[in-house]
Amino acid sequence: MEIIKSIPEMKQWSNRVRESHKTIGLVPTMGSLHAGHMSLVQKSVSTCDVTVASIFINPVQFGKNEDLDTYPQDLEGDQRQLESAGVDVVFLPSRQDMYPDGYKTFVSVEGITNHLCGKNRPGFFQGVATVVLKLFNIVRPHTGFFGDKDWQQATVVETLLRDLNIDAAIERLPIVRESGGLAKSSRNLYLSQEEMAPALSLYCALERARQRVQNGEFSADVIRQEIRQMIEKNQQAKIDYISVCDPENFIEHDEIKDKSLIALAVHIGKTRLIDNCIVRRAECKE
Ligand code: PAJ
Repeated sequence: MEIIKSIPEMKQWSNRVRESHKTIGLVPTMGSLHAGHMSLVQKSVSTCDVTVASIFINPVQFGKNEDLDTYPQDLEGDQRQLESAGVDVVFLPSRQDMYPDGYKTFVSVEGITNHLCGKNRPGFFQGVATVVLKLFNIVRPHTGFFGDKDWQQATVVETLLRDLNIDAAIERLPIVRESGGLAKSSRNLYLSQEEMAPALSLYCALERARQRVQNGEFSADVIRQEIRQMIEKNQQAKIDYISVCDPENFIEHDEIKDKSLIALAVHIGKTRLIDNCIVRRAECKE
């Protein structure tokens, strides 16, 4: 496995691979890798000729009061996992090379970024779209792999690539969870023992909502309210949003539709967690 830190070197590598008509898979990450990231890596390794995993804690997607300086890092552990999964290149650009002095260009995807995680995190999706476009321009993958854990992010990336005529496919993979149901996240490392039960309430509330839809409850308001009640039983939980919405444009639904997204963001102590699931009216048992 090669470690490439320089942007020109990464571009040369990619050009050579493309000249030999091999397909490139890219898995963009911020490191501190877990089974969720590794599911993307495994899919890329098994479906593309070569796989690049990038590890870059992207400063421009963090807000002023967010955890940029304390974001978990485990470069050695990450490299070990990537090597044993059969990754060809780990791309580790520096902040200075990605955003040198005088850097001025940011990409924004309009509309769909005003909802959910875009509402209370100004600049977040602009930061994500900018770094993803830069990574795609540098690595020039045939396919990029993204997780549905960050549903809105994957949709923003799909929109970005389509609108800017980037010739790459996006493959989205399902949420990988801990055995109890908590969605795997690098930020789970922040959770104390006492915060584990409140953290699990996100998944429990989503599962309960899914059952309620299966049993014929189609009112989005009722579903939102029940989720809120379940999560607020935990004193450490502070809800950012609970949404029942269209999975593509994130406009709130009044009623569960053929396909509705239920998405949540909740602070448990100082840790912000997100989770989501898709529910379908057709899954109703009645
Ligand atoms: P990061 O949080 O490291 O996640 C990298 C990728 O792993 C994302 O596509 C994310 O959706 C996916 N992922 C994380 N947890 C997952 C889980 N439990 N199941 C399935 N997939 C999971 O998301 C980012 O980094 C950054 O915003 C990035 C896209 C790299 C841009 O900086």
